[in-house]
Amino acid sequence: MQKAIRKAVLPVAGLGTRFLPATKAVPKEMMTVVDRPALQYVVDEARAAGIEHIVFVTGRGKAVIEDHFDVAYELEATLEARSKTEALEVLKRDLPVAGSVSFTRQQAPLGLGHAVWCARDIIGPEPFAVLLPDMLMKHHTPCLKSMVDAYERTGGNVLSLEECEPAMTAQYGIVALGATVQEDVFEVTGMVEKPKPAAAPSNLFISGRYILQPEIFDLLETQEKGAGGEIQLTDAMLRLLKGSPFYGVRFRGTTYDTGTKLGFLKANLAYALDREDIHGNIRAELQSVLAES
Ligand code: UTP
Repeated sequence: MQKAIRKAVLPVAGLGTRFLPATKAVPKEMMTVVDRPALQYVVDEARAAGIEHIVFVTGRGKAVIEDHFDVAYELEATLEARSKTEALEVLKRDLPVAGSVSFTRQQAPLGLGHAVWCARDIIGPEPFAVLLPDMLMKHHTPCLKSMVDAYERTGGNVLSLEECEPAMTAQYGIVALGATVQEDVFEVTGMVEKPKPAAAPSNLFISGRYILQPEIFDLLETQEKGAGGEIQLTDAMLRLLKGSPFYGVRFRGTTYDTGTKLGFLKANLAYALDREDIHGNIRAELQSVLAES
């Protein structure tokens, strides 16, 4: 029996430089996909996988994230007085139970590995999940849920994997695979950051969801700076791989990188087309915009 995955880290302290100037004053994680902050979809994914406690690693200028996950008393009182019950219900549905979220500050954006390390005391000595909140992963089975299901069988560390064009491996962290454990679940025997196609051990990349053993924190503490002068999570995972098994779960849905302009626009279209209340209108509007352009 594996230790349950109860806690998740959502690092939200990055600068979002690929999406400036939009992200100068608005955290990229709060940018709207249809009518909800991108971050809300990822929180939903964590909850659907059985996560009980979320640790947000925030930074300067990210205070609105804390406000979003709190009660907005005046707003709710006004909605109540105006009988706007539907809007009120939406707010209540998205509100986490008191005490089920924590916030800690990274102080300086030193890299994803450093952001995860900042959550060490709140996570404690148990396996945990990491979800990159700018990656929206759309599928009828939430990505982290498939990973937790696999983890219950395999234990160890589990990564979400996705296929890229073989020519594009230099953009990603690529894994080397060992034996197949079950359909879409594999042993991971190696990881290479941004390999040229000829040197890539596969075309499967690590796509933004992780289940990690707590030993990663000790490794992150002594992790040297890597690519881009940042403390990289992948570098610490490579060290962890020497003593702790890694598995990969191939994600069969679609991932939208909302940290890029194109990914963000695509996510808005895809999620809008999925929404019963507006999908018909969106289709018609899209056709008219295309016809006009
Ligand atoms: P990214 O590299 O995509 O985010 O990190 P970024 O640095 O904000 O984006 P660009 O490259 O400048 O456009 C993935 C996730 O890790 C968080 C980010 O907020 C994002 O959600 N992150 C990254 C941190 O929390 N701290 C860091 O030091 C770096």
